[in-house]
Amino acid sequence: MKLSTTLFRGIGILVVSRFLVFACVLLAQNTYNEPWRSQFHFTPAKNFMNDPNGLVFYKGEYHLFYQYNPQGTEWGHMSWGHAVSSDMLHWKNLPLAIPEEPGKYMIYSGSAVVDWKNASGLCVSGDAADPSCLIAIYTAAGTNIQNQNLAFSNDRGRTWANYEGNPIADLKKPDFRDPKVFWYEAQKKWVMVAVLADERKAVFFDSRDLKKWVLRGSFEAGANDKGQWECPDLFELAVDGNPQNKKWVLVVNRNPSAPAGGTGTRYFVGLFDGSHFANETPAGQELWADYGKDFYATNSFSDLPRKDGRRIWIGWISNWQYANREPTSVWRGAQSLPRELSLAQSPDGIRLVQKPIAETKGLRERVLLQLSDVSVTMAMQAMHLSNVLGDTLEIEAELAPGDAKEMGFRLRKGGSEGTLLGVTPETKEVFVDRTHSGQVSFAPEFPGRYKAALRQSSRVKLHIFLDRSSLEVFVNDGEMVLTDRIYPSPGSEGIELYSNGGQGKVLSLSIWKLGSIWR
Ligand code: FRU
Repeated sequence: MKLSTTLFRGIGILVVSRFLVFACVLLAQNTYNEPWRSQFHFTPAKNFMNDPNGLVFYKGEYHLFYQYNPQGTEWGHMSWGHAVSSDMLHWKNLPLAIPEEPGKYMIYSGSAVVDWKNASGLCVSGDAADPSCLIAIYTAAGTNIQNQNLAFSNDRGRTWANYEGNPIADLKKPDFRDPKVFWYEAQKKWVMVAVLADERKAVFFDSRDLKKWVLRGSFEAGANDKGQWECPDLFELAVDGNPQNKKWVLVVNRNPSAPAGGTGTRYFVGLFDGSHFANETPAGQELWADYGKDFYATNSFSDLPRKDGRRIWIGWISNWQYANREPTSVWRGAQSLPRELSLAQSPDGIRLVQKPIAETKGLRERVLLQLSDVSVTMAMQAMHLSNVLGDTLEIEAELAPGDAKEMGFRLRKGGSEGTLLGVTPETKEVFVDRTHSGQVSFAPEFPGRYKAALRQSSRVKLHIFLDRSSLEVFVNDGEMVLTDRIYPSPGSEGIELYSNGGQGKVLSLSIWKLGSIWR
C-alpha cells in the first residue's frame, strides 16, 4: 500500500517535471529567449539551419527560405524552411515550404524568382493584369547525383508543387548544385548560374520559360584554386554609383580555405554577356567578402522593386568546420543581417562594399551614449557613468589609434572573458579575437584571431552589430567586414575601450540598445 503510494507520487512528480521542462522549452521557443538566442538575426524556432535560399520579394513580402533539418539540430533531411517579412528584419515563421523526398533526394540550396508574365505556364492566377507566380529552382540531391528541380507556388509561397518535368537541368554529375536564377534583361532571358562543386567550376545556363535550360558557358579560377565551390551568385553593380560604369560580380562560396579558415565567400569582378563571365580580377588576387570566420553561402534577393534598385544579400553566420557543434540548443544556425552591396574603385582595383540595410536603423530602441573627440579614459568614464552594458547593441565608432600599438573594444566582457575588436596600426590591420570570448571548447577550430588588411589605419570607422551570439563589424563604411559567432556567459555584458602602448583617441562614439525582432 505504502509502496504503491510512493510509486504513484514518484510517477506524478516525474510527469509534472517532464511537463514543466516541456512547457519551459515551448515558452523559450515562443519567446525566442534561450541563452545565446539571436535577438535581431533570423534563427529558426528549433532545429538546424544552414544556407539562406530563394530570397525573393513578391506582393509586399520578403521571403527567406533556408536549408533546414525539420527533424534535428544537426545537418540532415535537408528541406526548405520558410519565413516572411515586411522589412527583411522582423520575420514571421511559416510552415516548411519544400520537404525532402525521403529515399529519393534532399532539397539543397537554390533560388526563387517571380515569373511575372507566366513564361513557365505554371501560374494559374486567373488575373489577366497579373498572371504571375513564384518559381523556386533548387538542387535535388540524391545519393550519387545532383540535378536541378523546379517547384512553383500560386499562393504567395505558402504551398509548393514540384514540376512534373523535373529535373530541369541535369549534367549527370554528383556535384552539380546551388542554382541561382535571374532575369537577364539585355537578352530577355533567364540565366542560371550553378556550380560543379568539386571541379571548382561555375556553369551558366539560359532559358526562355524557366523549364528548358541550355548550358552556355563555364568559369574556373585557375589551377591554384582549392576546395569546393558552392552557392554561386551573379549580379551587376555600378562602380562608385556610376550607371555608365557597371561590372558583374561572380560570387562563389568556397569550402574550405577561406582567410579565417574553413568556409568563406569569394568573388570575382568582370563582365558577363549572357553566356560567359570574363574575369577582370587579376590572377593571384583573391577577393573575399568577409574576413571573419562565420559568413557563408550567400544568396541575394531577386525581384526587389525597380524603384528600390538595391542589391541585398544575406549569408549564413557559421562555418562548416563546426556548424553541427555550435553550443545552442533546440535551434542551431543564424542568418546575417541583410547587407546592401555596391562596388567601389580602390587603389588596388574594384572592390565589393557591404553595408547593413538602411532599415536596420529601425532596430534602435534607445541611444545609450553619444560622444566625440575624447580620450579613451574619458570615453570609459562616460560609458561607466551611463552604465553602458548589453548583449544586443549597435556601436558606431571612429578611432584614431595615434601612437598606440593596438586600440579597440573589449566586447561582452565579464571576468576574464571578452571578445576583442581592434586595430593594429603598425600592421594596418583590423581584427576580431574570440580566443577568450566565452564557450570556445566545443570545436578546436572555433577560438582564434581573425584579421583583415586596412588601406590606412590612422582613422578607422567601426560599425558593430552585437547580438547575443554574434558580432558583425562593418569597417570603414563597409570596405571590409568581419562576422563571427561568440558564446559568452549570459552575464558578460560589459563593454570597454582600450588603447595599448600609446594614446589612441575616440573621434566619435555612439551606442544604441537594439530591440528584439521577435517581440
Ligand atoms: C553550402 C551547401 C550547399 C548545399 C547545401 C546543403 O553550405 O553545402 O552547397 O546545397 O549546403 O545543405
